Amino acid sequence: MTRIVYVNGAYQRYAEAAVHTEDRGFQFADSIYEVIEVLDGHLVDATRHLARLARSLWELRIAPPMSDAALMQVIGQVIRRNRIRDGIVYMQVTRGAGPRDFALPSAGTAPTLVILARAQRKGWSAELAKTGIAVKTIPDNRWGRCDIKTVMLLPAVLAKDEARRNGAKEAWFVDAEGNVTEGASSNAWIVSSDGALITRPLGPHILPGVTRATVMDVAKAEGLKIEERAFGKEEALRAREAFVTSATNIVMPVVNIDGSPVADGRPGPLARQLRLRFHHVAEISEG
Ligand code: PDD
Repeated sequence: MTRIVYVNGAYQRYAEAAVHTEDRGFQFADSIYEVIEVLDGHLVDATRHLARLARSLWELRIAPPMSDAALMQVIGQVIRRNRIRDGIVYMQVTRGAGPRDFALPSAGTAPTLVILARAQRKGWSAELAKTGIAVKTIPDNRWGRCDIKTVMLLPAVLAKDEARRNGAKEAWFVDAEGNVTEGASSNAWIVSSDGALITRPLGPHILPGVTRATVMDVAKAEGLKIEERAFGKEEALRAREAFVTSATNIVMPVVNIDGSPVADGRPGPLARQLRLRFHHVAEISEG
């Protein structure tokens, strides 16, 4: 349970924690976020998540609310005050509050910073990975800067809802050329007939996933071949395996796409191998 939330310099009780009604995050989605896995009370890949947070802020010219060292202190406090052993840390930075105006506020406007932590049952995703998940493909109707981790998540929310209504856990966005960009909240991968890991190259149409980067480190350490290139639904259906990666799912096998099975419809060995090796390769640090 979340008991305490950090909001702009104060640790507040969850039920009472609040931001300004004219916060630009609320009015314009003028805001970015990060989700970091907490495992046995430790942070997973914090350095990469903080680097991406800094990049998102820089891309939108939002002032960093504090140094990385100070952020790590606050994150640690939030984890301890909520007694989280396994779960996630969610952090959001907005451009701050002020009378509603499309024009950016003066440079002195203080950004809003919210950090909360939530417990999750240890092993839930490992259990789900035993059966894998279904995905539903949906035309990608997001903006052209999906590499920035903004809270402008309505297309993802609606895509996931459509996926759920079709019995799938995740949506795969498909671009105008028929290629999969990424999941609504994950990066998409397939395994080719010769055992190569295929995932879309980084660019403005996908989020540079931290889990994606660490899975690449795992793959290299395991001597697996990686091909960064686009793939479509038909190729994914002919693939040996498919899976998604994210801080919450780590490596999650995809066994069904739009109602058709991937390979024999069961999780494959490479997704399992990457998943088992993941936390041995990821950076594990004190919260
Ligand atoms: N989502 N692509 C999108 C669109 C995402 O929202 C996410 C993560 C990823 C995977 O990134 P990472 O490996 O750094 O978690 C890819 C988070 C978990 C969320 O919105 O809850």
